[in-house]
Amino acid sequence: MILPNLRKQLSVFAAPLAGISDTAYRFLAKHFGADYAFTEMVSAEGLVRNNHRTIDMLKKYQGEDAVGCQLFGSKPEVIAAAAEVVEAHGFDSIDLNCGCPVHKVVKKNGGAGLLKNLPLLETIIATTVKKVNIPLSLKIRSGWDDNHLNFLEVGKVAEGAGAAFICLHARTQSDKFKPESHWEHIAQLRETVSIPVIGNGGIRCAEDAINLMHQTGCDAVMVARASFGNPFIFREIKSLLADGWLTAPAGNEERVAICLEHVRLLVERFGEERAIRRSRKLLGWYCRRITSRAKIDQRLFRLNTFAEVEGYLNELLATIQENAA
Ligand SMILES: Cc1cc2nc3c(=O)[nH]c(=O)nc-3n(C[C@H](O)[C@H](O)[C@H](O)COP(=O)(O)O)c2cc1C
Repeated sequence: MILPNLRKQLSVFAAPLAGISDTAYRFLAKHFGADYAFTEMVSAEGLVRNNHRTIDMLKKYQGEDAVGCQLFGSKPEVIAAAAEVVEAHGFDSIDLNCGCPVHKVVKKNGGAGLLKNLPLLETIIATTVKKVNIPLSLKIRSGWDDNHLNFLEVGKVAEGAGAAFICLHARTQSDKFKPESHWEHIAQLRETVSIPVIGNGGIRCAEDAINLMHQTGCDAVMVARASFGNPFIFREIKSLLADGWLTAPAGNEERVAICLEHVRLLVERFGEERAIRRSRKLLGWYCRRITSRAKIDQRLFRLNTFAEVEGYLNELLATIQENAA
């Protein structure tokens, strides 16, 4: 798919991920081949109230392009006003979160709650697209639960109200993150609307991404959890798409180097203390792809400085290399 303001082919999207898809994650995702990325979900209310922590979430890395800002909320005038703030910060698109299953968000009609109120959803989209010049997309789930699968209706409402594209996470709100994802919903949505459809849910490896495209005819794919500690998946998908074969998987040295680079980028963005706190789960993900869970010791979760992280990773790599020799 091609967005009018970007004029480049977009096939592989990095997902909006709360607590994860910050500037460091997005930089590495795009470095390894993601064509487009999103911020984590940002509160429209927080932006409009000028809350400094929320405004801080709009930071981009130097030279960043091909990036959308995802908003959550449920009040049309607030989302439209927040969209203006996002546009003024130079984002390429705005995405409306219609999939978050978290009670705190849903009880205020936000996230997946919007799937239950299509007149409200239509008003939000129509009000927002009038206020900004950049495209508005929707990220939806298949429906609230198996008895309320309304992704086709939501797609038609979105298209009619002026959404530029739609991403379908092919699970319901009540599915949360169940293993199986209903790719047939993505195929049905692709048949039903004329705007581009991005398929999401259950991509575990590069081959899955290609299968999702082939099975559904979706215009692009979106990767979420398979990229945790593994930005290399974007390179693998792009090579499979372009050449029909997989590049060699990342080796341990590259994994350690990129893990460290990820932490360094976080330090640059958030300062050392906050960055290291934010890094802990991330380090676990990278390390688990290098060695067995049993070999990752408790020290990993007690690291406090960048130097300690570097020391830990170098030691881990040296041990693995010794064992392999
Ligand atoms: C830790 C975590 C945070 C997430 N944060 C967001 C978010 O901020 N906005 C959003 O639309 N979806 C969010 N999601 C959902 C993902 O974007 C994606 O739709 C979902 O994980 C399914 O894709 P997957 O099966 O490839 O992981 C989140 C998922 C996880 C696991």
